[in-house]
This record gives sequence, C-alpha cells and structure tokens, in this order.
Amino acid sequence: MRLQNSNSFKARHDDIILATNPKCGTTWMKALAFTEVVPGIEITLDGGLTDLLEKLPSPRLLATHMPLSLFPKSIATSGCRVVYMCREPKDAFVSRNIDLESAFSMFSQGFSPYGPFWDHCLEYWKESIASPGNSSKVPFLKYEDMISDPVKHVTRFAAFLGVPFSTEEEEDGVPEEVVRLCSFEKLSSLHAVQSGDFGRRGDIVLDKSVFFRKGKVGDWVNHMSEEMGRELDCIVQEKLKGSGLVL
Ligand code: A3P
Repeated sequence: MRLQNSNSFKARHDDIILATNPKCGTTWMKALAFTEVVPGIEITLDGGLTDLLEKLPSPRLLATHMPLSLFPKSIATSGCRVVYMCREPKDAFVSRNIDLESAFSMFSQGFSPYGPFWDHCLEYWKESIASPGNSSKVPFLKYEDMISDPVKHVTRFAAFLGVPFSTEEEEDGVPEEVVRLCSFEKLSSLHAVQSGDFGRRGDIVLDKSVFFRKGKVGDWVNHMSEEMGRELDCIVQEKLKGSGLVL
C-alpha cells in the first residue's frame, strides 16, 4: 500500500467513513447508506485524486479498506466518524473467488492486501469498545448480525449516519422497505451490476458481478475442507484471544 501521500487526505469533522476488510459487505453498506457512488479515501493516496474528494459537499460519505493504524492523521484529529463492518473470516475468504488451495496458506499466515484479516478487525474492535454504546465513534457491525436481523441493524446504522428513522417512518415500515431495496436479491438483479468491468489493476480485470456472489452466511463449507476450516478457526481464535471479539 502506498502511503507517501497519506496527509493529502483532509478529513472533515462531519465525514462518515465506511471501513471494511474486502469481501465483508462493503457494497451492501454503501447501498444502505443510499448512495450510488461512495469514493474510497485510497484514491487520494495512490491516485493523487485529492481534488475529487475536496470538491465533494459535506457531509461526505467515504469508504476505505485501510487498516485503522494506517489512517491519514487528519481522520483522528478531525474527530470524524467511522463505521466498521466485519465478517466471519472463512466466508470472507471464500468470497474472494480465487484459487482457494494456493491462497489459503497465504491468508492463514496473514498475507492479505490490507494486512492480516484478524488484525484489521481487532484494531477497529478496540477503537469501538474504547467508547461503547451509542456514543461509540466506531460502531462495529457484523455481516452475520445484519443478515439475521437486518431491520434492527439498519435502524442502528441510520441513527449513526445522523438520519434516524422517525417513529412515523418506523410505523410505516420504512426500515423494512430500505432492507428490501438493498437486499442481495434486489441489488444483484439490477442490470447495472450483472456484468461488465468494474475496474482494472494492471492485467487484472474485476467484473462487477464479483460484488454479488451468494450473500450467504456459512457458504465456506461448500468451498473449503473441514480441516481447512478448523485450522483457520484455531488461528483466528488464538489471534483474538482476550479481546472479547468473536468472529
Ligand atoms: P459472497 O461472495 O459471500 O456472496 P464486498 O462488497 O465487501 O466486496 O463484499 C462482497 C460480499 O457481500 C459478497 O459475499 C456479496 O454477495 C455480499 N453482498 C453484497 N450485497 C449484499 C446484500 N445486499 N446482502 C447480503 N450480502 C451482500
């Protein structure tokens, strides 16, 4: 990751940053925030596109995969808010749609584009519990909780974004409607996301469809052996020991 320009990103007090490890539900969070394009702060760091973010009106909604410890300094000093979403590591791993056998050993040793998967989660977790409850500057969401009770967690997410549902909206079923509009079935059926290039990195072309594979909890069992699953569980449990975080 190139960080030589990290101070070119100037956070604003009212920025909201959606932070995730890749394949942990970034696209879902962006959709729930009701925005079509959520720029990543990384574009100012490796693309020099500072102007693009500077021109956005406040409050800005931004996204990042960056580990907390590598955040540009202005994020801490501005006091802006960060929402983190994590996911069960085995599901996040198989979501990458890669050659699993060869990638497994790398992933288990902590070689991931944004650093070891568990360290990424742990850094945000520690920040989240440093100021718990509704006052937390870093609410910590789990993909699995969102799947099991989307209305409850979308309501919490909306409040955090500063646009809580009113009692009237709740009575009218607006949270349920937001959940329906942003459901996997709905989003993955949109023509715009079914095919075509999302972007390129060198020779690697990302197809838009990679962001909508199955949207299920526990799909790892269809791709990894039980033994691989146990091995990764042990590593993750060991790495998270004593933190109170269970993935
Ligand atoms: P799977 O590969 O397990 O299906 P990201 O957006 O961070 O790249 O995460 C991609 C993962 O989120 C994919 O998981 C994708 O299917 C899932 N996803 C995308 N939209 C979703 C939604 N509306 N509801 C649930 N899961 C969703």
